Amino acid sequence: MKALDGIKVLDFTHVQSGPTCTQLLAWFGADVIKVERPGVGDATRKQLVDVPGADSLYFTMLNHNKRSIELDSKNETGKEVLTRLIEECDVLVENFAPGALDRMGFSWENIQKINPKIIMASIKGFGPGKYADCKVYENVAQCAGGSASTTGFRDGPPLVTGAQIGDSGTGLHLCLGIVTALFQREKTGRGQKVTAAMQDSVLNLARVKLRDQQRLATGPLTEYSQFGEGIPFGEATPRAGNDSGGGQPGRILKCKGWEQDPNAYTYFIIQAAIWEKVCDVIGEPDWKTKDGFAKPKDRLDKLNQIFDRIEKWTMTKSKFEVMDICNPHDIPVGPILSMKEIAEDEGLYATGTLVRVAHPKRGEYISVGNPIKLSDSPSEVTRSPLLGEHTREILSSVLGYSGAELDRVLASGAVGEAK
Ligand SMILES: CC(C)(COP(=O)(O)OP(=O)(O)OC[C@H]1O[C@@H](n2cnc3c(N)ncnc32)[C@H](O)[C@@H]1OP(=O)(O)O)[C@@H](O)C(=O)NCCC(=O)NCCS
Repeated sequence: MKALDGIKVLDFTHVQSGPTCTQLLAWFGADVIKVERPGVGDATRKQLVDVPGADSLYFTMLNHNKRSIELDSKNETGKEVLTRLIEECDVLVENFAPGALDRMGFSWENIQKINPKIIMASIKGFGPGKYADCKVYENVAQCAGGSASTTGFRDGPPLVTGAQIGDSGTGLHLCLGIVTALFQREKTGRGQKVTAAMQDSVLNLARVKLRDQQRLATGPLTEYSQFGEGIPFGEATPRAGNDSGGGQPGRILKCKGWEQDPNAYTYFIIQAAIWEKVCDVIGEPDWKTKDGFAKPKDRLDKLNQIFDRIEKWTMTKSKFEVMDICNPHDIPVGPILSMKEIAEDEGLYATGTLVRVAHPKRGEYISVGNPIKLSDSPSEVTRSPLLGEHTREILSSVLGYSGAELDRVLASGAVGEAK
C-alpha cells in the first residue's frame, strides 16, 4: 500500500512548479490525472527538445507516474467532463495565470459547489496585492523573493541560482499544504483552498537573509567576509559570495586540477570546534595558540590570509582527497560535484534518488526519483504519459462513461483524437 492510495488528483498544472507538486503526490501513491489541452498538451513537452518526436526531458522529468487525458476545458462537453472529474477527485491542483480558471467558469466557489470535499491547490507568482495579476516564471520569483539580491559577490551583480527554488520550491510548499489539508479533511469532512505564491516560497527559503536584514540595525554582520575586510555595510543585506549562512567562516577553495576542471573545488568551513584540527591538517600548528589566530573573533580580519593558506593545501589534493582527509577530523568540507559526476554516482541509484527510466519514444533516460523516502510507502518511478495516452481509460474507468455516452464525448471535439 502507498501512503496516498485512493486519493485522486485532478492535475491541471503545467511547466514546472505545479507538475513538481503533483509528481510528488503521484510518488506517494495518488492517482494523478493530468488534464492537457488537446493536440498541444503541457508546453514543456515541446520545450528544449533533444530527441525529435519524443517528449522533452523537461516534461518527462516532471511528470512521472501520472496519467494524461486530453480535454478542452472551454468546449461545452469538455466542461461537462471536467465537472465530472471535479466530482470524482479529492484534490485539484493548478498553476494557471491569475484568473484563467475563473475564465473557464471554474471559480473556487463553483468548484466547491460541485464537490465540497475537494481541496483546490493553486500556485501563483504573487499573493494578493499589487502584483497579484502578474504571470511569473522562476527567475522573476527568485528576484522578487529576495534570493537574487543576496546571491553573488558583493562587487558583482545580483545572481539567480540554478536550483529552481521558485518553481520546484513552490511545488514542494504546495504539496505540503495539500497533504495537510487532506489530513484536516479527515476530521472536518470539508475541503479547502490551498495557495502558495512563488514570491513567498522563495522568501521562506531565503529566511536567513531577512534575519540578517534585521540584525543590521544593531551592528555589522561580523560573520560576513566584508566585516573582516573592513568594508562598511549598507542598508540592505549584502551579497555574501560563498560565505556560509550559519555564521561559521566558510569558502569555496581550489583543488588539484582546477586549471582544467571547472569543478575542482571544495567547500571548506573552519568552525571553532575543529580549528586546531584544521591547523594540523594544513601544516600550521602554531596557529592553534598564536595571538590573533587562536580565538574565532580575532580571526575575522584574517580570513583572507587563513583561507589563502588553506587553499595552498587544498590545491595539492583532489576534492575527494580533501574530503577523505578532513572527514575523520569532523572538518566540514564538501566537494563541488558536477552534474556529470552526480549522474555517474551509483550510490544515488541504489537509494532511488537517481533512476533510469525506459521511455517508448526516447529510450532510457536518467531522472531524479523521489528525494523523500517513506519506509512504508516506497516510490517506484514510472515514465511520464504520452499526450492523451489515458483519455479513453479515464473517461470509462474513472468517470464511468460507456456505450453511446462515451461515443458522444469522443466525437465532441473536447478530447482530441482519443487513444
Ligand atoms: C506559467 C505562466 C506564466 C504561463 O502562462 P501562459 O503560457 O500564458 O499560460 P496560462 O496559464 O495563461 O494559460 C493560457 C491559456 O490556456 C488555457 N488553457 C489551459 N489549459 C487548457 C485546456 N485544457 N483547455 C482549454 N484551454 C486551456 C487557459 O485557460 C488560458 O486561457 P485564457 O488566457 O483565455 O484564460 C502562467 O500560467 C502563470 O503565471 N502561472 C502561475 C505561476 C507559475 O506557476 N509560474 C511558474 C510556472 S513553472
